[in-house]
Amino acid sequence: MLLDQRYLPSKEEWFQCADTDDIIYALQQMVIRGAPAIGVTAAYGCVLAALQAKGGSNWEEALEKSLQDIEHARPTAANLAWAVRVMRQAWRSGSFLSAPELADFWLPKAQGLHEDDIRVNKMIGAYGRDLIASGDTVMTHCNAGALATGGYGTALGVVRSAVEQGKEVRVIASETRPFLQGARLTAYELARDNIPVRVACDNACGLLMHKGLVHKVVVGADRIAANGDTANKIGTYPLAVLARRYNIPFYVAAPFSTFDIQTSSGEDIPIEERDPGEVKYMTGQMIMPRDVEVYNYAFDVTPQELISGIITEKGVFDPGELA
Ligand code: MRU
Repeated sequence: MLLDQRYLPSKEEWFQCADTDDIIYALQQMVIRGAPAIGVTAAYGCVLAALQAKGGSNWEEALEKSLQDIEHARPTAANLAWAVRVMRQAWRSGSFLSAPELADFWLPKAQGLHEDDIRVNKMIGAYGRDLIASGDTVMTHCNAGALATGGYGTALGVVRSAVEQGKEVRVIASETRPFLQGARLTAYELARDNIPVRVACDNACGLLMHKGLVHKVVVGADRIAANGDTANKIGTYPLAVLARRYNIPFYVAAPFSTFDIQTSSGEDIPIEERDPGEVKYMTGQMIMPRDVEVYNYAFDVTPQELISGIITEKGVFDPGELA
């Protein structure tokens, strides 16, 4: 059961996944999104795939095909392929006579991966909170909170942890066109936790920094290359450039499962392009001439030299030393 993020904050609706197709639909339509949450969902998706493959003698082949379909549902978030790899390795290291037997073995693995993600988020929070001073206003982009992870959050985990420590922290959430993860999701989950949050249009961020209203920027990550270049939601890179212009520390908070040592730099990170309709329409209303083309890249890459530190479950690293 996934809290359907397409309808938040106006409706809290649950989306039930019964099979691999439902999982892939949920990932692609962003019923669930955010790199770590995508990974956790993929792990449960493997269990559903095993339950589905229970028939025929060639269940192993059918199952491997489903794992590959899940793995390729979205291209940028490293946690997706990582989670499927963890599940596949667990499968290959044992011997299973049938798919239901494997499903029984896999379910606690998926639950463990889910619980681990929450534990890791809290460790990221514990390291990150030392970088936040009481009285700080933290700008964040997209949603790297409980909704984007197994629970608690990466960037918002840092904020939550600082607040739990008794610090006074305010958040500016940039709205994050076109899916509005900042306005809809970050504002929703922080308001529920009584953490002061204010939403700003994406294009207001320069002015807010110029006015001295932003003390730190903390964002999540979808994939971190070996050299520390970081892919995150489209609009992150301009925030990093602005932060450098105004000498504002710019931090990335992410678990090691987001780190992709096989990809040497940001140039090689695949950037998802999504349906133009996400840009052309707002709340069902066409907001531009129908036949005009749009760009809808879902992510951009922030070069490592603009990142002050990467906050992980093993401590805070300079981007260049992470590998
Ligand atoms: O397209 P999305 O909403 O899946 O993109 C999510 C982001 O870019 C998040 O900032 C990132 O995954 C970090 S989530 C802890």
